[in-house]
Amino acid sequence: MKIAFIGVGNVGFALANNLQKKGHQIVVANNNPASESVKKALDKNPAFTVKKVQEAVDEAEIVFLATPYQANQAALQGNRFNGKTLVDCTNPVGPGISHGLKSEKSGSEVVQELAPDAKVVKAFTIYGFENFIDSSFPGYNVKPAMLIAGNFEEAKTQASVLIEELGFFAKDTGALSQALHLEHLTLLWVKMARMGGHHPNFVWAYLEK
Ligand SMILES: NC(=O)c1ccc[n+]([C@@H]2O[C@H](COP(=O)([O-])OP(=O)(O)OC[C@H]3O[C@@H](n4cnc5c(N)ncnc54)[C@H](OP(=O)(O)O)[C@@H]3O)[C@@H](O)[C@H]2O)c1
Repeated sequence: MKIAFIGVGNVGFALANNLQKKGHQIVVANNNPASESVKKALDKNPAFTVKKVQEAVDEAEIVFLATPYQANQAALQGNRFNGKTLVDCTNPVGPGISHGLKSEKSGSEVVQELAPDAKVVKAFTIYGFENFIDSSFPGYNVKPAMLIAGNFEEAKTQASVLIEELGFFAKDTGALSQALHLEHLTLLWVKMARMGGHHPNFVWAYLEK
């Protein structure tokens, strides 16, 4: 599958690199020919190609957004998605690791407003990128849970296939408005790992009976 990545920093590169190793074609979407992160990504994985954002989106079957939350407007505005799935990996983080939109709405709902012709799926936000580089937890017979949210069933199904390929258990939590709660779960993870002295190689599991 051809997959476009808007953003190939910590998160984007980890996911794109593992998807490429699984046999997918990765096209990095960036309008800045001098981008340091793109240069670094190509050095580490020469199988990636780079295109202007609109061109990359046009040829991809699914698009990942892994930009700093504040860059989302610049990254999305003016581009057409023509009904494609847009996997939103971004998190609005405010001062003191608070919710960047004061918990009034989710960042993913804003992403949907910025890209109204995309089918936004919130995913790959509830852990640090370390767990996207390596999702394996040997010794456990459950996979790390990847909680997702979105308003379009077919887009969630499409994203879930890639989530499972990357070694996670995809769990649909419901409509895109649920992304607000996922963003709070992210803040918990970030506070524990980035401020609370907890090591970053930990994940949540989904157990059901
Ligand atoms: N870090 C984590 O552990 C983690 C985990 C889960 C989710 N997240 C979320 O994921 C997002 C990315 O985090 P990160 O740590 O991967 O950030 P990062 O390392 O700073 O990478 C950001 C990427 O976005 C690109 N970018 C910025 N503005 C752009 C634009 N207008 N058009 C196209 N590309 C643009 C950058 O390219 P240039 O180099 O050209 O600027 C870079 O490739 C954030 O929203 C973060 O909250 C982070």
